[in-house]
Amino acid sequence: MPIILAIESSCDDTSAALLKDGRVLSNVTAGQAVHEEYGGVVPEHASRAHQRNIVPTVAVALKRAGVTEQEVEAVAFTRGPGLIGSLMVGVSFAKAFALARNLPLIEVDHMQAHVLAHFAENPKPEGPFLCLTVSGGHTQLVVVKDPLDQEIIGRTIDDAAGEAFDKSGKLLGLPYPAGPVIDRLASQGQPVLEFAKPDPGDLNFSFSGLKTSILYTLQKKVKEDPDYVKDNLNDICASIQDTILSILLRKLSLAAEQTGLRQVALAGGVSANSALRRGLEELGREKGWTTFIPRFEYCTDNAAMIGVTAGFKFERGEFADQSVAPAARL
Ligand code: KG4
Ligand code: ZN
Repeated sequence: MPIILAIESSCDDTSAALLKDGRVLSNVTAGQAVHEEYGGVVPEHASRAHQRNIVPTVAVALKRAGVTEQEVEAVAFTRGPGLIGSLMVGVSFAKAFALARNLPLIEVDHMQAHVLAHFAENPKPEGPFLCLTVSGGHTQLVVVKDPLDQEIIGRTIDDAAGEAFDKSGKLLGLPYPAGPVIDRLASQGQPVLEFAKPDPGDLNFSFSGLKTSILYTLQKKVKEDPDYVKDNLNDICASIQDTILSILLRKLSLAAEQTGLRQVALAGGVSANSALRRGLEELGREKGWTTFIPRFEYCTDNAAMIGVTAGFKFERGEFADQSVAPAARL
């Protein structure tokens, strides 16, 4: 397999990675602090930050990998789904880099790549596996028959799991993204509050009712004690986290039962959550599953997963041409 330069720019992380023979040589990600004060990603700011970051990020990735621009043999990029202005920067960079050097281009589906992050390290799943992909934009249960043959058997009908963390955090006045903050505060609290766990049936998820449930519960508490949120922040976070995780793990168990799959994996930004990682390991021991959780840097948006996916596509001879355009939805 060739030396692949991979680019990821679908949301608010600019990332570049170098891979050789499917092995990750470097994986460099520049985040964007600019969104913190807005409580969410501002698309216009995101694309401008990608424009500033893309050239230095690729330069650092090449340097860390010990690879020169001339040694790159194929260029992979996230085509979608994502924010169109953000995707545009990565797609344009990849196309220009490939055009200037007459290199093959490989387009990658960001969601497929989150699942294939498991192939960036060892041990890798062998044969079909079930993957729960939980990010800021998506919540999916995926049956992976073969790396490039993935079937979505369950999904959220409204907010994504990461969004549930982030929007709950916003209610509490926590900075964006609130997921990692809730994770940290929850580790010092107890899940003493009960929130609604909406269930749309089958293998689908719903999180939009959770925000309302949190809001009403807290409004009632604050009426009795104006300092309730400030004085009980850790317990509130533990309760929010516990609710989201119990919804996720219940559907994951149901999916494993229905499919009969015993290799079970987590992917996406929310799989960085320490309680979810522990929860899956415990559930796996109880059910006799083999579980797979990527290293932290491969959970959140990163270009290594784009490069790994591109490696599978290269082997199948699936290339894009210079007319390829970003796609907000794939
Ligand atoms: O996959 P990702 O980096 O970007 C998307 O494609 O969306 O996921 C970002 C999401 C955010 O919602 C963030 O709050 C959440 O992942 N996240 C976490 C943790 N780390 C990141 N959620 C809970 N606990 C964490 N430790
Ligand atoms: Zn993502």
